Amino acid sequence: MKKVCLAAPHLYEERNEKITLDRFLNGEQAGDLEIVKFEKELSSYVGTRKALVLSSGTVAIRLALKSLGVKSGDVVFWSSITYPPSCQAILSLGATPVFIDIDPLTWGMCPQSLRLAFQQLKEKGQRPRAVVVVNLYGQSADMDPILEICHEYGVPVLEEAAESLGATYKGRMSGTLGAVGIYSFNKNKIITTLFGGGALISNDPSYVDKARDCLSENRNDLMSPIAASIGRRQLEVLAKRLERKKEIYETYRRAFKEIGEIEMMNICDYGHSNYWLSVMTVKRGSVVTSKEIMEKLKSHHIESRLVWKPMHFQPDFSDFPFFTIQEGTSIAEDYANRGICLPSDTQMTQGEQDRVVNIVKQLFINSK
Ligand SMILES: Cc1ncc(COP(=O)(O)O)c(C=O)c1O
Repeated sequence: MKKVCLAAPHLYEERNEKITLDRFLNGEQAGDLEIVKFEKELSSYVGTRKALVLSSGTVAIRLALKSLGVKSGDVVFWSSITYPPSCQAILSLGATPVFIDIDPLTWGMCPQSLRLAFQQLKEKGQRPRAVVVVNLYGQSADMDPILEICHEYGVPVLEEAAESLGATYKGRMSGTLGAVGIYSFNKNKIITTLFGGGALISNDPSYVDKARDCLSENRNDLMSPIAASIGRRQLEVLAKRLERKKEIYETYRRAFKEIGEIEMMNICDYGHSNYWLSVMTVKRGSVVTSKEIMEKLKSHHIESRLVWKPMHFQPDFSDFPFFTIQEGTSIAEDYANRGICLPSDTQMTQGEQDRVVNIVKQLFINSK
């Protein structure tokens, strides 16, 4: 039986589409030109003045932090739910992360918890060097209140949009609202450069120039021309992917409506999500747990993933401060306990999605 993937790499939308790699190897396009063109096309798509394409989203995060002047001894505020290795960049710079709870409606940084963290640091005469806002699972955080607070304290925002390329916030592209933004094009993202890839974008060319200056001689930080060539073709199919991702989410939403214990991730009306992953939570007190759902799907060769354990519970980061306005369990911890990312691969067939739905539904029906 064919394995159903969470989100797999797709080089083509249609089977007869000509592979970009072949075109490149046939010498139709010159390498460096591909990088310049991809940077231009990406910045034109998201509407920023400049872009720098790199070998991964993680590299983009490290360079973005450097371009914002983060250095040893600095404090950086960071959303508590994110892709854990992406935070290593901060440790490699010798800075200290301070984690901020997420908002239950947006899954992005909670503005009230952010304010609390600013106030408490201020009492100690401290101020973070930067705030990293993660747009989780394809949806923008509620940027206006976050930007307002950061502006009040004079601290720049790095919009960590690794997962949210193509999403919008109040008519603007996700990733473009902070001082600097980053995207990831790794294999499971909404578009991929296949060999790993990422980008740093900004409306202020000086941040991009600074990041370029910080590029070490280490050529591993650069995107390869072949990856850029693939990225250009992938940008052309992004609109189609956005439609398909939304369709997948809507199918789950409709199918699970009748199961009272299931809640799909809230989609905010201040913009469009890119629905990178369809995420659900089981209600508190449900007999069926997210872990059981994952195990059951796995036994049917279907991939799913639990919501990431919050950073303040990760072994390398559990000693760093965490701020929340919640009493007792934080939102990040609660969602990590109850959340699961369902298969959201754009090439999943209707029949495959029906199988996923039926397996999940059956678990709840059998538990009665
Ligand atoms: C939220 C988030 N941040 C950062 C990254 C890192 O991107 P990359 O894998 O391209 O280094 C990812 C993806 O893997 C991610 O999902």
